[in-house]
Amino acid sequence: MTAGVAWITGASSGIGAALAVELAGHGWQVAVSGRDAERLAAVRARAPAAIHPFALDVTDADANVTVAADIERRLGPIDRAVFNAGVGSGFSVDRFDAADVRERMHVNYGGAVNGIGAVLPAMRARGRGQIALTASVAGFRGLPDGAPYCASKAAMIALAEGLALDLAPRGIDVRVITPGFVRTPLTDKNRFPMPFIIEPDDAARRIRRGLDGRGFEITFPKRLSYVLKTLQRLPYALYFPLIRRIAGGRS
Ligand SMILES: NC(=O)c1ccc[n+]([C@@H]2O[C@H](COP(=O)([O-])OP(=O)(O)OC[C@H]3O[C@@H](n4cnc5c(N)ncnc54)[C@H](OP(=O)(O)O)[C@@H]3O)[C@@H](O)[C@H]2O)c1
Repeated sequence: MTAGVAWITGASSGIGAALAVELAGHGWQVAVSGRDAERLAAVRARAPAAIHPFALDVTDADANVTVAADIERRLGPIDRAVFNAGVGSGFSVDRFDAADVRERMHVNYGGAVNGIGAVLPAMRARGRGQIALTASVAGFRGLPDGAPYCASKAAMIALAEGLALDLAPRGIDVRVITPGFVRTPLTDKNRFPMPFIIEPDDAARRIRRGLDGRGFEITFPKRLSYVLKTLQRLPYALYFPLIRRIAGGRS
């Protein structure tokens, strides 16, 4: 017996790939999306009976609709959709490139919006379903050298909060996932210390348990997210000097 059908975007590597394997191990049929067909095939090889590749560029709204329909035709109704595709945090204000800054919003926020648009009509017709957005602790506040990424993740958090309120009465369960540092190709590029970094399999277990549970927000590791939640509550008069001091004069 299957637990249901899940669709994960950004599942060709990192957190999404690990979550696909984790859900497959707990009885789910999992549709995995990303642009790179070869890497999707490698993810499939980790659980061939349960993981099914559906190549997709999340920035293409029509392609999201086509893929969602293909998944439902081949695997059945999508019970759980995890919009997880994302691009990273590398940014220097000394080389401010408007197109590059817009791209984070286009992929991270825009990709999630396209996915929601693709699954929502059928979920609403059924009066059930779960939608989760992978944001980040970086969405809690603007951080030095991370403004475009933080902005895209803050937008995703606000989107998830609003939709959770709108969709709960319609039987649809909306969640937000706010990870701290996880060792993936995205963070492999970082050249700064990443406190409390965890492995993708560990992140996937925490996400799966959170999605099976009842809380709106799935945030981990708690040691980092609680520090950042405390920073989130500080007035600007305290926040800016503190962050400047932590950043060691970079900001
Ligand atoms: N790692 C962390 O510390 C961390 C912390 C907080 C939040 N997150 C978030 O977690 C999510 C997954 O990141 P990760 O760390 O696992 O990084 P990753 O291994 O680089 O995975 C990113 C995924 O997004 C996909 N992707 C990127 N652009 C895409 C596009 N236009 N269309 C479709 N798929 C696209 C990539 O697939 P293709 O290249 O095959 O398209 C890949 O599967 C991201 O949203 C990231 O912001 C990560």
